[in-house]
Amino acid sequence: MADKLHKMTDWDRLKFMMEESTLDDKSKEVDETKLLDYLYTRIRGQDEIIKDVAKLVRLSWKKKERTKPICSLLLLGPTGTGKTELAKALTEFLFENEKDMIRFDCSELASGEMSKARLTGASSGYKGAETGGQLTRPIFANPKRLILFDEIEKAHPQVFDLLLQLLGDGRLTEQSTGKTADYTQCIVVLTSNAIAEEVAKVTAGMTDYLEILNAIKMLLAENKIFRPEILGRIDKVYQFKPLEGMIIAEIAIMKIERLAKEFGLEVNFVAPQILMQALLANAKISKFGIRELERILFDLFAPSLAELRDNKAKSASFDVDPSGKIIIKEMEIRKFEPHKQKEKPQAIARPDIDVKGLTKPEEPEKAPEADAGGGGTDARGTPGWPGSMPKPPKAG
Ligand SMILES: Nc1ncnc2c1ncn2[C@@H]1O[C@H](COP(=O)(O)OP(=O)(O)OP(=O)(O)O)[C@@H](O)[C@H]1O
Ligand SMILES: [Mg+2]
Repeated sequence: MADKLHKMTDWDRLKFMMEESTLDDKSKEVDETKLLDYLYTRIRGQDEIIKDVAKLVRLSWKKKERTKPICSLLLLGPTGTGKTELAKALTEFLFENEKDMIRFDCSELASGEMSKARLTGASSGYKGAETGGQLTRPIFANPKRLILFDEIEKAHPQVFDLLLQLLGDGRLTEQSTGKTADYTQCIVVLTSNAIAEEVAKVTAGMTDYLEILNAIKMLLAENKIFRPEILGRIDKVYQFKPLEGMIIAEIAIMKIERLAKEFGLEVNFVAPQILMQALLANAKISKFGIRELERILFDLFAPSLAELRDNKAKSASFDVDPSGKIIIKEMEIRKFEPHKQKEKPQAIARPDIDVKGLTKPEEPEKAPEADAGGGGTDARGTPGWPGSMPKPPKAG
């Protein structure tokens, strides 16, 4: 019989669901410190937000009885600052895997009836009724999920009506089948970068959370972005900060480490000149945020990482020689190749990458103003060269 079950269904998933369903209450112990540590490995420069989110998740999941989702968050702020990344990281840590996130791009939910049919299924008899709704059907299969509505301000008012019901009652009825989906084991995240600049201006200098929240709510109401009753049902509103230069450098290091790990390698050192090359390239092409950074780092590092992997290296250092060429050093050789362990670290020069211009800072064409630290800001808003120490650019 067990063999048959193995063949006929997803055994592991069934086992997981049965074990979970034996719990008769909806509470779960969330280790706040572990969650915070994990979020910190994914999101930088938003420390107060991730701290508060970790605490909120622990406390709200402790409740035994719930008639609403575990918690609902509205993440506001400029593009490319970590809003979607936070939703992904929460899903990965709190649920089984990233696939347990249901994600909607609300720019695709701008028409009323069609969006409603997409989310909760077409009425019976209509085309597509049998497939059910994209917001309801996955919940029948697994009720423990994170639901993300990106760019929520673009959703049609009918979508907001559904959202009101979901946030308020924790349930929605599928139009085609009449079955009810239960959202009391879900986390709901709404993101928006609408009026990011206005919010930043109005809340500049404010430190009290309630004062900030009030100012944001007033702005959202004035701009008719959300109906007040929606705001009233959201547990927490967070305003993401624009990413500053050194934070972007930190994120770049984090992304290099992650990329190297994908190649089975550890990175011990990256020369600042190489980091600067990546950050300047990012600042040139992505005016806002760090969307392009991952691709730039891949172009810059992947060929060497692949080469090191072929050489069975375990870790690497990325340095520059006096002529400005990137030098890649293998730091360790895998144990199962003892003959190679005696070899000195091997340096590979990458002739296709030349950071010569970065080894000696160039004079800015026109210094816009005197800067105590020796740095200035050019027309694009990127900092000029501050003498001996290069300074990373600002995002946006
Ligand atoms: N604070 C951050 N820490 C670490 N990585 C970040 C941060 N912000 C953005 N990133 C990285 O930049 C990319 C885009 O970030 P994300 O999708 O979270 O932006 P967003 O705030 O949702 O922007 P948008 O409003 O345009 O949707 C992701 O690859 C993410 O890893
Ligand atoms: Mg996003």
